[in-house]
Amino acid sequence: MSKTKQPLDWGNLPFAYTKTDYRFQAFWEDGSWSEGKLITDSNITIHEGSTSLHYAQECFEGLKAQTAENGDVLLFRPEENAKRMQKSAERILMPSIPISLFMKGVCEVVNANYSWIPPHGYNASLYIRPLLIAHGDNLGLKSATKFEFRVLVSPVGAYFKSTKLEPIRLAVSEFHRVASQSTGMAKIGGNYAGGLLATKMAKEEGANEALYLDAKEHKYIEEAGSANILVLTKDKQLVTPDTDSILPSITRKSIMTLAKDKLNLTTKTRAIALMEEINSIQEMAACGTAAVLSPIDAVKMNNTWYTLPDSPKVGPIMSELRTMLVDLQLGKIQDDYNWIYKVDIT
Ligand code: PLP
Ligand code: COI
Repeated sequence: MSKTKQPLDWGNLPFAYTKTDYRFQAFWEDGSWSEGKLITDSNITIHEGSTSLHYAQECFEGLKAQTAENGDVLLFRPEENAKRMQKSAERILMPSIPISLFMKGVCEVVNANYSWIPPHGYNASLYIRPLLIAHGDNLGLKSATKFEFRVLVSPVGAYFKSTKLEPIRLAVSEFHRVASQSTGMAKIGGNYAGGLLATKMAKEEGANEALYLDAKEHKYIEEAGSANILVLTKDKQLVTPDTDSILPSITRKSIMTLAKDKLNLTTKTRAIALMEEINSIQEMAACGTAAVLSPIDAVKMNNTWYTLPDSPKVGPIMSELRTMLVDLQLGKIQDDYNWIYKVDIT
């Protein structure tokens, strides 16, 4: 394989789809998965009666490949994505993708699209989007019987057009992302469709993204449209919401571990009543694969912007956590947890 790179403006990539050379495809039929293979066609032919189209029987994942300074291509905790995809699939009656098939798909597609992986030093990555969709005709409300696992990739820049020097802003949505005891913990398309309007409205209010409160009391922080939330209280506790209606973020889990082990912070998972606690919040951030760790400096609720103490700067703790996470993902600091997965490039 050629080791040359595509002629892209690596430092100015949008977070958008760029067609690359290969994608991975496997099918589930009659109770088992096919081996899977790389293909070049970026289109999917789907029956008009598919439950993916009518009833959103679809789930997905998001992870990224990055180039280390020495040229190694690194993934961050990919097996966690594989396990989460199994849980998402189970929630909407889709077949489980074996971890080995997930890893094969991800690694083959990254290797085959080597020329599209941003080189080191551009704050960019190859975003990997594993997708599980239902095929076949089925008008009744019941699960499909044939499914496709596809892994596509796209070179991307930062999701929020901010840097660690420029924080983002969130606006509390009047909508709720999901009901309680529903599908909030699954990464399924249906959870996102309802959020498109909330995100659009938040942007119209001058925010980067919507912030959701809980559906029962409209009081406790849930998450942002595309990321989980971290709060640093004035007494230096790193707190994150305790709810099973948000996506269990792999980035958040990792940051909480780093905060405890490396910065000796007290970490807590508990309900956070936004309005009641806003004056005791020192720093705040959104986190996720696409969002990385994006510090927040203002939150809008009840028509009022609440600005956090360090605004317009980024608070020191979120800044340190972001640097630590990014350095770890890029292989710059020692991986004490075995979180980094090196892809074989052939
Ligand atoms: N919450 C939502 C709604 C997301 O879409 C994402 C992105 O995957 C996250 C949180 C962050 O999860 P992770 O850190 O596993 O990417
Ligand atoms: C991710 O961070 O991987 C996501 O799936 C969020 C998405 C809205 C881009």
